[in-house]
Amino acid sequence: MAFDANPPLGLYVHLPWCERKCPYCDFNSHAAATIPEDAYVDALLDDVGQDLPLVWGRRIETLFIGGGTPSLFSGAAIDRLLAGLRALTNFAPSVEITLESNPGSADAGRYRDYRAAGVNRLSIGVQSFDDGMLSALGRVHDAADARRAIELARAAGFDNLNLDLMYGLPGQDCDAALADLEQALDFAPEHLSHYQLTIEPNTLFHHRPPAGLPDDELAWRQQTGCQARLAAAGFDHYEVSAYARPGREARHNLNYWQFGDYVGVGAGAHGKLTLAGEDRVVRRVRLRQPRAYLEARGPARIARETIAGADDLVFEFMLNATRLVRGFDVRLFHRTTGLGLDALLPGLNHAKNKGLVEFDGRRIRPTELGFRFLNDLQASFLDADRPRRRPIFEAGDEIMHN
Ligand SMILES: C[S@@+](CC[C@H](N)C(=O)[O-])C[C@H]1O[C@@H](n2cnc3c(N)ncnc32)[C@H](O)[C@@H]1O
Ligand code: SF4
Repeated sequence: MAFDANPPLGLYVHLPWCERKCPYCDFNSHAAATIPEDAYVDALLDDVGQDLPLVWGRRIETLFIGGGTPSLFSGAAIDRLLAGLRALTNFAPSVEITLESNPGSADAGRYRDYRAAGVNRLSIGVQSFDDGMLSALGRVHDAADARRAIELARAAGFDNLNLDLMYGLPGQDCDAALADLEQALDFAPEHLSHYQLTIEPNTLFHHRPPAGLPDDELAWRQQTGCQARLAAAGFDHYEVSAYARPGREARHNLNYWQFGDYVGVGAGAHGKLTLAGEDRVVRRVRLRQPRAYLEARGPARIARETIAGADDLVFEFMLNATRLVRGFDVRLFHRTTGLGLDALLPGLNHAKNKGLVEFDGRRIRPTELGFRFLNDLQASFLDADRPRRRPIFEAGDEIMHN
């Protein structure tokens, strides 16, 4: 592999605590009555130092503070975190700074403090405006809390707002999914993330699935019905689950889907960094358990570091890029993997023959069938014989996605 330049760089910060664990959630999130926020901010600022030698001179284009429930952190803690990160790293003047918020911890003063600290995009986990659904999902808030959170965010000056909604909920029909969406649209959000509820292993719902989960056909009708309503409301469907008003795409997430680079700090966070000068791509994963992460020092917070091989890069690139509704310019593949198009061709021909993808010589784009059966499309790029990634070292830590 040979790189011409490094791809754009983002920074992900994971805050791993929640008020209560939701029964469907497999994120690295832990219920806690109190949060050691000062110690954790110290740990994050120390942790980012581990990756600085790998990103010298590069600008951070986007920062995403995710969780868990970052809105459990005080305004003062987020301010100290952002001031520290600004001092240590090189934020682009137009940096997008997103923070995830749960309506259960929405607070007028806190939202104003986040905005004053420099957060310029707020993502609110609404999920549904139906109190029955929210209670079936084990959420800590009701629909009135969700409405209040959105109003408080606007009053605090957030003009770039994402709402998370879920569909495919227990007992939910098409009209109910559309009614949720309609209420979200009443608030004119700039961005909407519309996720189908998935039953993940290692969750309470996996052991005790809720009654009345929609079958694939109903979930597909909910999805396409909501897609049509969002298109009519002027939203661009640009990624499997993401819809934006013009120019309001989630830049941080778009960088993942376009296979850009990111530093990942905090418990269980993943990072991916291209070292163009050395023609290498390095992945790092932090210790997953918050206590272990807090107690470790310096490099001991890194649970695992791997160098991505060519086969890994082909698959990981396609895992991300096939999520983009309009596909991608084929030059992006070389720019972000350092590989020639020939590395992509076996999988591409396989997927094309199955009608899952289109390729006109310039752009690669999933077909409607490819979108519906995205796992099959992505699996076309998985080489059954490929060797596993070579760990440089491993601290025996369980890896979770965030
Ligand atoms: C980290 S959470 C957002 C912030 C906050 N923790 C909350 O839940 O309000 C990210 C989003 O992922 C979605 N999500 C989590 N688990 C999911 C699942 N099993 N199926 C579908 N969506 C899920 C939810 O919409 C959630 O808002
Ligand atoms: S869905 Fe959000 S609030 Fe619920 S446990 Fe997961 S991260 Fe926490």
